[in-house]
Amino acid sequence: MANRLAQLIQPDGHALFLPVDHGYFQGPTRKLEEPRKTIEPLLPYADALFITRGVLRSSVDPGNSKPIILRVSGGTSVVGKDLANEGITTSMEEAIRLNASAVGISVFVGSDYEKESLLNLAKLVDEGERYGIPVMAVTAVGKELEKRDARYLALACRIAAELGARVVKTYWCEGFEKVTGGCPVPVVMAGGPQVDTEFAVFEFVHDGIKKGSIGVNLGRNVWQNDFPVAMIKAIRAVVHQKATPKEAQELYDSEKEQEGRKS
Ligand code: 5RP
Repeated sequence: MANRLAQLIQPDGHALFLPVDHGYFQGPTRKLEEPRKTIEPLLPYADALFITRGVLRSSVDPGNSKPIILRVSGGTSVVGKDLANEGITTSMEEAIRLNASAVGISVFVGSDYEKESLLNLAKLVDEGERYGIPVMAVTAVGKELEKRDARYLALACRIAAELGARVVKTYWCEGFEKVTGGCPVPVVMAGGPQVDTEFAVFEFVHDGIKKGSIGVNLGRNVWQNDFPVAMIKAIRAVVHQKATPKEAQELYDSEKEQEGRKS
């Protein structure tokens, strides 16, 4: 367990996970239509990939040396009745066969399927602990993006940690210290739909880390950006090199110029 967690969380205590799992309920998400094309240029700058077994098999070379967090919950879609009604889609045996460093599952606190998703988490933790595989709980809000406030996210993160998650993925919000302060395991931040400016991303990542997050699990705000490599490099600087939002913006601008010239 400690060895796998050390593959994910770097010696500085921070982590940059790259999620490319969105297709498991959204289908061919914009700029992730061909996952290999999205993943390959970004991989050198990610500490781990959050991915389903199908995209891992089809779009990542087995020689890839980046740790894998295997998305193992699903079974619902954006056009179905309720996104929260997820089950476990991939067995622990399969996760071990695929040499995953961790598995990830969504929990839907406050939804009609709160109990099922939390019991799924607890069951997955039982299996993971047996084999030394950490479980990352994703505090999912489905389509109700307005749920992303400190009171709700602190509740969801704490419950996930109490049930045994080794890492919790949540959203940044105002008063984020309440979320990290009440959660006894490392917290990483997702971004949700693309925000208006790059600077706003650097600001929330910087603020979240200052308030106790270990880093990010940031997808659309990286690979839906017009200059995704510039974006991930700049975010990496905030996560691992204590760059300020202004420094990250400067790095993004200069990398963007280089990427633009190349293309
Ligand atoms: C999708 C997920 C994503 O991994 C998570 O939401 C992070 O991606 P983004 O930054 O695009 O929100 O769990 O279900």
